[in-house]
Amino acid sequence: MTRTVYVNGEYLPEDQAMVSVFDRGFLMADAVYEVVSVLDGKLLDFAGHMARLTRSLDALSMDDPLTEDEYLEAHRQLVQRNGITDGLIYLQVSRGNPGDRDFVYPPKGTRPTVVMFTQAKPGLADAPAAKTGWQIISIEDLRWGRRDIKTVQLLYPSMAKMEAKARGADDAWLVEDGKVTEGTSNNAYIVKDGRIITRELSHDILHGITRAAVLRFAREAQMQVEERSFTLAEAQAADEAFVTSASSFVMPVVGIDGTPVGSGAVGPVATRLREIYLEESRKTAI
Ligand code: PDD
Repeated sequence: MTRTVYVNGEYLPEDQAMVSVFDRGFLMADAVYEVVSVLDGKLLDFAGHMARLTRSLDALSMDDPLTEDEYLEAHRQLVQRNGITDGLIYLQVSRGNPGDRDFVYPPKGTRPTVVMFTQAKPGLADAPAAKTGWQIISIEDLRWGRRDIKTVQLLYPSMAKMEAKARGADDAWLVEDGKVTEGTSNNAYIVKDGRIITRELSHDILHGITRAAVLRFAREAQMQVEERSFTLAEAQAADEAFVTSASSFVMPVVGIDGTPVGSGAVGPVATRLREIYLEESRKTAI
């Protein structure tokens, strides 16, 4: 089946969807994005993703071309038209097409480009990896200094992912000044003596929507949460480790640079948080 994708208000077969070669997203990575997960045909944490989209656009002084209701309608149309039960919806807003290449931003009123498409992921919530956990490598964090803005500048995370794959691992944790920032496309956590530890929010990491929900659920379940940075050595000596994102939910990490974390098997805290996250998020999915 040909996917139907959204481009600037139109629903088109993917092979007929076009964006200009002068688009700032293409030439300058001048674009922001969101990834929303879909379970049972419903959107998880939609309001959170929309709030972060607004924050990213504001941080880059980019106009928001659609209202939240219009984004919601487009998400739902894509789910329906592509028959998505479980999967992801990718949304990208770029500063648009100024008609030429220039470092100067295009004049106000230049229409941003909005592109959205679906990725079908049958059984997304039952990923077998959640039972076995991920192996992680560490790699220096060489990204720019505003990782809180969800831009499409993903070359370095992509290189880090490739390095992880080349070394037989599943993902990489990025390390700066001796401390873990986050994963290539997820937030990073360790568990020590029952305490859940994850880096505090700043410009250094993306403010994960899954992170916000998981920390809220953990606190509601009377678990201890500590928002502070941690070293790789601390992570390797932890009882458990895990990552969170819209596409992996809560994913246990069982090895870091070849050192088993805790018993080297998926631990109870990550398992419980995954269950709570999926259960609670399904309840509020729209
Ligand atoms: N990535 N940190 C980074 C660098 C990310 O790219 C992501 C998400 C997260 C987790 O954020 P959230 O919980 O809101 O998904 C943290 C998405 C899934 C991606 O690029 O595909």
